[in-house]
Amino acid sequence: MDHQGSILPISHELKTSISLYKRPENLGFGSSIAPIMLMSKFTKGRWQEPQIQPYGPIPMAPAAKVFHYGQQIFEGMKAFRRNDQDPFLFRPKENYDRFVRSARRMCMPEVPENLFMSSLKTLVHYLTPIIPQRENESLYLRPMMIATESGLSLKSSGDYLFLIIAAPSAEYFSSAKVRALIEREDCRASPGGTGAFKVGGNYGASIQSGVKANALGFQQTLWLDARQQRYIEEFSGMNFFAVVNGELWTPELTDTILPGITRDSIIKMARHKGMIVREFPIDIDELLNLVSKNICREIFACGTAAVVTPISELGESTGTTYRLAESFGEVTQKLSETIRSIQQTGKCEQFDWVMPIARDQGDGHLSASNEPQNSMIAAY
Ligand SMILES: Cc1ncc(COP(=O)(O)O)c(C=O)c1O
Repeated sequence: MDHQGSILPISHELKTSISLYKRPENLGFGSSIAPIMLMSKFTKGRWQEPQIQPYGPIPMAPAAKVFHYGQQIFEGMKAFRRNDQDPFLFRPKENYDRFVRSARRMCMPEVPENLFMSSLKTLVHYLTPIIPQRENESLYLRPMMIATESGLSLKSSGDYLFLIIAAPSAEYFSSAKVRALIEREDCRASPGGTGAFKVGGNYGASIQSGVKANALGFQQTLWLDARQQRYIEEFSGMNFFAVVNGELWTPELTDTILPGITRDSIIKMARHKGMIVREFPIDIDELLNLVSKNICREIFACGTAAVVTPISELGESTGTTYRLAESFGEVTQKLSETIRSIQQTGKCEQFDWVMPIARDQGDGHLSASNEPQNSMIAAY
């Protein structure tokens, strides 16, 4: 694993704001934002020195391109902390690589790896005291980049902001009973589009279906392919798995499916345990037939925010429903426990997936590899 990146110093005022932050008892997901954020500007072809500042509004021109043409990308990842030990990140290099791929697709500049990693490390280091330590809780991190150049011409922006905000959070779904609506009208992503990248527009376009799903009593949308509305793609913010005859089935990655890091981790862990994992185009009606015959009893969604969430029912907008295991089925439970145990302990023997981050000791003491540096840019 790449351990690049060092920790930036921050002011006494910012440290005080962290110590004054009160974490709500009922965390929810992404609703209470940490009091500091990190920001770096890109202008005249160069990234500027990142600034850590109080979380709050940022001045932006109303003609900034992000507001009109959606030139924007983001990532979602978590820092964990347990038993008052050092916090750790789960596979951050994968998030960095996906961020770079998203940037290229949206004609945005690449954030150097050292800047990305140093920024994450700096935030996690100083926010250590507010990382929730209860089971299933973590510090959700949201790196993002937006186009800030003012001007209404439809072209790539010359100026950008790279930001990271953080939110102490619980898991996305508070209940293990998630019903998913099979979306047979709208599409999330089309071939040649941006479905395989973390681009805000993908999510904006999914909201209409989400509203419909909620009105019909579902918590999620299950998307099908845009060409034929026949093959399963994924949920609005999670990847799809089904357990059939002891095998794990998941749609093969295409340019319309987000390559989830949790998906990849589950596939690797399952294969390591000797399970058969099949990545192939899954026909929705064939799968529903297997569900009706009780050959498929377990379907689950997976992602950073939702970890592993069993789907208790699939349904059509016509009212037809397909019942699945009420809660965690045997295979779903086993995979969920494997991934959660890494998040609980920070230990992963089979794979190099955990990146520890030295916590702020409050006395300025840091391990040698994490000494604060006054310039990250100089290290590029
Ligand atoms: C559309 C979509 N699919 C899948 C995922 C799962 O990806 P990951 O496991 O990297 O969080 C996410 C979340 O990032 C997502 O937004």
